[in-house]
Amino acid sequence: MKKILVFASGEGSNFEAIVHYFKDKNVQVELLCDKKYAKVLKRAKNLGISSHFVEFENTYEFLKNNKFDLYVLAGYMRILPQEVLNLGTFVNIHPSLLPKFKGKNAIKRAFLSGEKETGVSIHYVIKEVDSGEIIAQQKCKIETFMTLFELEEKIHKMEHKLYPKVIEELL
Ligand code: GRF
Repeated sequence: MKKILVFASGEGSNFEAIVHYFKDKNVQVELLCDKKYAKVLKRAKNLGISSHFVEFENTYEFLKNNKFDLYVLAGYMRILPQEVLNLGTFVNIHPSLLPKFKGKNAIKRAFLSGEKETGVSIHYVIKEVDSGEIIAQQKCKIETFMTLFELEEKIHKMEHKLYPKVIEELL
């Protein structure tokens, strides 16, 4: 049995997609959340998944005492220090074709940039935000008739399909 810990701070749609994907597989999913009132904590409760509310400052301590095969960042809004990253393998998903549009509001910035395509990247986590070695990428056309909302929906659907598969391969 492999164990993964998903890090999330907010909505948690990727977390939920990961939980569904691994439901009948030999992989145990748990959640770490740094925000007390985040929607992702409610999702975990409804899905019957163990969740850990861990304030950012206590992350090292928590991971020292709780070991997982893979640490999966999915909308975790903090930058993990090197001493935490040294404790295992960390991956992240980002809604752009990295190295383009690192950081916040990546979908919107790509949409407004006039680029013809954007996409999703999954990468190893290093100290510098959205900068580690890329593991997988998937492109998505930005059609001229699309609204920002439609592009966001398309990107999120792609994330929900791609991330669990890449996690499975890494395990
Ligand atoms: C996703 O778009 C992910 O790529 C980015 O943060 C968002 C998290 O969404 N890192 P959700 O919380 O999984 O719904």
